[in-house]
Amino acid sequence: MELQPQVRMMPRKKSLRAAAAVLVAVGATACAHTPPPGLARGKEIYATCVPCHGADGAGNQELGAPNIAGLPKWYVQAELLKFQTRQRGVNAFDTIGLRMRAMSRTLNLPGDVESVAEYVATLPRNPVPTTVKANPMAGKATYQTCVACHGATARGTKTVGAPPLYDQADWYLLRQLHQFKKGWRGTDPRDITGGTMRPMTFSLDENAMANVVAYIQTLK
Ligand code: HEC
Ligand code: HEC
Repeated sequence: MELQPQVRMMPRKKSLRAAAAVLVAVGATACAHTPPPGLARGKEIYATCVPCHGADGAGNQELGAPNIAGLPKWYVQAELLKFQTRQRGVNAFDTIGLRMRAMSRTLNLPGDVESVAEYVATLPRNPVPTTVKANPMAGKATYQTCVACHGATARGTKTVGAPPLYDQADWYLLRQLHQFKKGWRGTDPRDITGGTMRPMTFSLDENAMANVVAYIQTLK
């Protein structure tokens, strides 16, 4: 009450600045436990990813959640942004992708996407069990068409946006190949990298997809 006349006397700019300072102070108190963007914040956010991807990031087949541990920061960040901006996980029949898109929308503080991507990248890559029974030797020939982007040992190529595929769950890789072929992934005009991947699936039938995935499993 006592301060009121004083505030009213202040030039407009000054009182706005004072109000902003109060807001910042209030915000800082309310979120005193929230670390600034970076690894610590990323670790804190990651607690919300654990129910599906696991504490070690190895994933969960029942929930359709892939092994994300140790994926490069640039790729995790790119995919989270795609989910957030409705470039991935949008098709009404894509119930598994929709699960992840809903999740991506909770990363709403500035820097959250980058922070959690940074944390995920620090998790050691987990070996995954083989679940797809197919012919890896037949898949090896097909894989030669993937080498230009994903690399001979499937370590990925940042410059073309192609992620590592080694030590990724075979059931997940197979489902993604189907997703691309069906146009549930890689069809949004903004999704340039998905758009380069999608045509690679056109000539692959079910057998060829399973075989190439089986070959990728040999690239430990
Ligand atoms: C409700 C379960 C669920 C939660 C919680 C969840 N995810 Fe996912 N996530 C999934 C599913 C399912 C997929 C596979 C989507 C698809 O098939 O397109 C996925 C895919 C991803 C991908 C894409 C991986 C790739 O190889 O392209 C990334 C990155 C990812 N999640 C990161 C996260 C992060 C980070 C969090 C926490 C902020 C998180 N997820 C929380 C279910 C979940
Ligand atoms: C012209 C470059 C290019 C070629 C060739 C290519 N890919 Fe890709 N691939 C990509 C890019 C870029 C992405 C990432 C798409 C995105 O950002 O969503 C990708 C993503 C994928 C994914 C999804 C991985 C994940 O974690 O979700 C799979 C699976 C895959 N590729 C398999 C293959 C296979 C198998 C072949 C060969 C038959 C192949 N790719 C050939 C560029 C390529």
